[in-house]
Amino acid sequence: MNIPPLPPHTVVAVVGTGAMGSGIAQVAAAAGHTVRLLDARPEAAARAADAIRAQFAKLADKGRMTTDDAHAASARIYAAAGLPSLSDAGLVVEAIVENLDAKQQLFRELETLVADDCILATNTSSISITAIGAALRRPERLAGLHFFNPAPLMALVEVVSGLATAPDVAHALFATAKAWGKVPVLAKSTPGFIVNRVARPYYAEALRLLQEGAADAATIDAVMREAGGFRMGPFELMDLIGHDVNFAVTRSVWSAFYHDPRFLPSLIQQELVDGGFLGRKAGRGFYDYRDGADKPLPSTEAPVELKSPVCICGESAAAAALAARLQQAGVAFDRCGSDDGRIAMVGDAVVCVTDGRTATRRAADTGIAGTVLVDLALDYASATRIALSCALQCPEASVLDAVALLQAAGLQVSRFADVPGLAVMRTVAMLANEAADAVNQGVCSPDAADAAMKLGVNYPRGPLAWADGVGVPAIRTVLDQLGRAYGEDRYRISPRIQQAFAAGRSLHD
Ligand SMILES: NC(=O)c1ccc[n+]([C@@H]2O[C@H](COP(=O)([O-])OP(=O)(O)OC[C@H]3O[C@@H](n4cnc5c(N)ncnc54)[C@H](O)[C@@H]3O)[C@@H](O)[C@H]2O)c1
Repeated sequence: MNIPPLPPHTVVAVVGTGAMGSGIAQVAAAAGHTVRLLDARPEAAARAADAIRAQFAKLADKGRMTTDDAHAASARIYAAAGLPSLSDAGLVVEAIVENLDAKQQLFRELETLVADDCILATNTSSISITAIGAALRRPERLAGLHFFNPAPLMALVEVVSGLATAPDVAHALFATAKAWGKVPVLAKSTPGFIVNRVARPYYAEALRLLQEGAADAATIDAVMREAGGFRMGPFELMDLIGHDVNFAVTRSVWSAFYHDPRFLPSLIQQELVDGGFLGRKAGRGFYDYRDGADKPLPSTEAPVELKSPVCICGESAAAAALAARLQQAGVAFDRCGSDDGRIAMVGDAVVCVTDGRTATRRAADTGIAGTVLVDLALDYASATRIALSCALQCPEASVLDAVALLQAAGLQVSRFADVPGLAVMRTVAMLANEAADAVNQGVCSPDAADAAMKLGVNYPRGPLAWADGVGVPAIRTVLDQLGRAYGEDRYRISPRIQQAFAAGRSLHD
């Protein structure tokens, strides 16, 4: 559908001038629109207008926009006296309190004031666009226009269609967001849209790992950053978001999906919320942010000397990177084939990348007592840390041989308890599973799912592209093994992954 963006002479009204409304108004004014600001709090719109003008002045000072453009954009911002002042708007973006009744009431009033072709958009994060639209005489002109915080900096915008949204309206918003310098993605109105749904396992799997005593929060965070390539570990990210907010989103998605166990909230997070350990803003969450408190270090294996002979097995990405790293470090090794997923042998230890089984299960299945598992890495060539676990029956000398090998390759090693799927692999498999389900249910395209997660929450790779990189059969096996290990419906495999596996295709085909 080739619908052009709203032309710059279109007046944009922004209702609700808090964190999001102000940011959206700044983006629209910078793109050339006259912007009218309205807020229920007296003087809030005028204060927001001043703050946006100050932002433009700052951007000009830093050379990010010319002084002329900054003046022009500042002159396009107006604080409105009341709803009737918004009657000349061609687009209204609502960013008021997250409450269905309040949003419906606002749009009902707006409908009586604006022209018939005015597009109504809501920045809601969690309320159904269909439900908001149900209050309107013409719900076809309402869509979600979901910016991320801070709106001027975050590139992603989810353009969300409710049941009644006219495709022309969604496409006009898509084109307009693009003209504003954003990366829009189309989504259907389902709980959490794309980002807030697909991101749930990032927090949930980490919380489960913690609950099961796999490792402490600082260690899991370090592994997710240093092996997974995520900008922030799940626990530090939850602390930053605030546990009240993060827990509320999880609960809302879980309830909206009729308590699907995939989204089950965590008792650990419930405790934090109950105790007021809300994260950075409260001075305490998983970490202590009060003056004088130390940030705990990740647990890291002490240096071990590599004494046993090493053989690198097979041609997998992990084996190839390990070989290259050892070569660079001047460590001698032999090469051999691999038909059981092993990447290295050192002494009596057999090192494999996790396939979702615990090391103990795998050792029992294969009869290899010295089974040692390592986690997935975004890039085994550049990772600085790796998580490792070993079978209960694995002799300590074999574990130390494996630790010495990984250390010789320049990796810090964090030893986990023997949980299924370790941290990065399990998280990536579940993120991909959720993204695959969203695509399977027609919420968005595979490219939209990947773009949304890279731009909305800064993932180093889109979950579907990542899963394709690891290999659909491997991801499917991990999910299958997680399902067997826990016996929970939570790990059921998305039909899209099953289909791609059966057809030998990628998740993008
Ligand atoms: N904060 C985020 O990270 C974020 C991200 C994406 C979307 N959102 C969504 O954006 C919306 C706004 O969030 P925010 O964080 O900017 O909130 P905020 O509390 O910072 O701002 C909301 C503003 O709306 C005003 N307001 C409330 N009811 C009003 C009404 N009936 N008419 C006019 N003004 C009214 C308030 O006075 C306040 O200034 C919510 O729907 C929220 O879910 C928030």
